[in-house]
Amino acid sequence: MSEPMILTEEIGRVGIITLNRPKALNALSGALIDELLAALRSYNKNPDIGAIVLRGNGKAFCAGADIKEQKELDFVGAYNTDYLKNLNDGIFAIHKPIIGAINGYALGGGCELAMMCDILYAGKSAVFGQPEIKLGTIPGAGGTQRLIRAIGKSKAMHMILTGDTIKADEAEAAGLVAKIFDDQETVKEAIETAQKIASFSAPVIAMAKEAVNEAEELGLKSGLHFESRLYHSSFGLADHSEGFGAFLQKRQPEWAHK
Ligand code: HXC
Repeated sequence: MSEPMILTEEIGRVGIITLNRPKALNALSGALIDELLAALRSYNKNPDIGAIVLRGNGKAFCAGADIKEQKELDFVGAYNTDYLKNLNDGIFAIHKPIIGAINGYALGGGCELAMMCDILYAGKSAVFGQPEIKLGTIPGAGGTQRLIRAIGKSKAMHMILTGDTIKADEAEAAGLVAKIFDDQETVKEAIETAQKIASFSAPVIAMAKEAVNEAEELGLKSGLHFESRLYHSSFGLADHSEGFGAFLQKRQPEWAHK
């Protein structure tokens, strides 16, 4: 039997998903994407999981779309199947926070997959890039849209038009990643942070994630209105009563996740 392309493991309330095609640097074949989305959806609906860590097996996080698969596609084939659009749409629908733990290459669709995560931790070996221009195409899973939001127009344009890569320290300075670590610490640190996030009220965490993501879609006035509505909605949660009550009673809250 062939190896699964996605490995999953649970530690406490954290689900860890590993891209497992190390010989192809975890390139995004259709089969790998299907397994990845299935794993994410399964954690999304599992009440025992509060946060997700996404990592790659081997020397890369992910080297992008599977070049052999994409080579075989023509315009009509890609258009009719919405090639790779399912990845963006699928990850967009996940309510639980996803921390990307990036060691090694995150190129093309791999950089885009990283940017679909909510928080990025990177090992010192991490290399981010959108090298599609060198292959005769453009980023197709959010690179032209998310990179500019993460690092600004000039740096994003430079990476996309030249295909040049940036290393972990540059990515951190530019705001693409939250923190950098020695490689052997990246996943451990991501899991620890995911555990911290998963220890809070799950519906409140989902509301916070949704509000922050909406900031990228809405103007300030609409965004502030949306935030207010979610904020007021949180007052109806049992966890809101518990959190405020626990503070006033000088004790730790016990979240019911409802
Ligand atoms: C399929 C890939 C691959 C990919 C690497 N491999 N990247 N297979 N798709 N994207 C395979 C190689 O063919 C090779 O297989 C094995 O992985 C190891 O790769 P090497 O090149 O031998 O490793 P190395 O010399 O260390 O170079 C690493 C690398 C290089 C710099 C990351 O592999 C590279 O440039 N890869 C392509 C990166 C890229 O252009 N990505 C963008 C793809 S387009 P064999 O069988 O020879 O051992 C894209 C579009 C986005 O992502 C669309 C939305 C998702």
